[in-house]
Amino acid sequence: MTFLITAGPTREPIDPVRYLSNHSSGKMGYAIAAAAAKKGHRVILISGPTILNVPSGCDLIPVETAADMSQAVGNWISRVDVAIMAAAVADFRPVEYQTQKIKKTTETDMMTLELIKNPDILAEARSIHGYGGLLVGFAAETENVLHNAREKLNRKKCDLILANDVSQPNEGFNSDQNTITAVYPDKEVELGSHSKTHLGALILELCEDFVRR
Ligand code: C5P
Repeated sequence: MTFLITAGPTREPIDPVRYLSNHSSGKMGYAIAAAAAKKGHRVILISGPTILNVPSGCDLIPVETAADMSQAVGNWISRVDVAIMAAAVADFRPVEYQTQKIKKTTETDMMTLELIKNPDILAEARSIHGYGGLLVGFAAETENVLHNAREKLNRKKCDLILANDVSQPNEGFNSDQNTITAVYPDKEVELGSHSKTHLGALILELCEDFVRR
């Protein structure tokens, strides 16, 4: 099968030296990509900036901004069987990019940055691209984890949402460990607490099972 996997953060430039981003390491998406390639699947890994090595056998498409990631996904999604959106896409970007470095002034201590919403790449898979393959999203939540995950499953028209509680210390963002519950339209399955490498292999198996059904 062919997998499309988004991973890592996006960077939304403010001026030539600054950007808005988040603490995503990319480890979860890269672990799924590595597990899929190891099983002989073709993997298109569309990734924001990370310090990780590209897992062997994966085709990396490096991107910076949410707009870049959205375009790369649009180019590939009609050609894949499974799409797993593990990227931590910045929800907003600056309305204007300042071509020169923004300078401090002595006149005021305040500055306002106007932001505009980024495209929801996961939701666009069905709504804009008419993607009909297996669609998997993530939900990193600090409260009402399963309720919010189920809401995302319905709103973004996913087959499966992998939910994790990022309020737990040493888990989720930028950590090697995660606790995940797989939320399906009709059931929930706890995958438990494991290394992201092991969870990558478990998630890959869930996807293979789903497609085989
Ligand atoms: O709505 P929320 O950001 O919590 O949804 C998380 C899921 O949606 C993840 O799978 C993430 O990769 C995806 N997402 C996306 N594009 C966005 C925001 C989230 O693909 N702009």
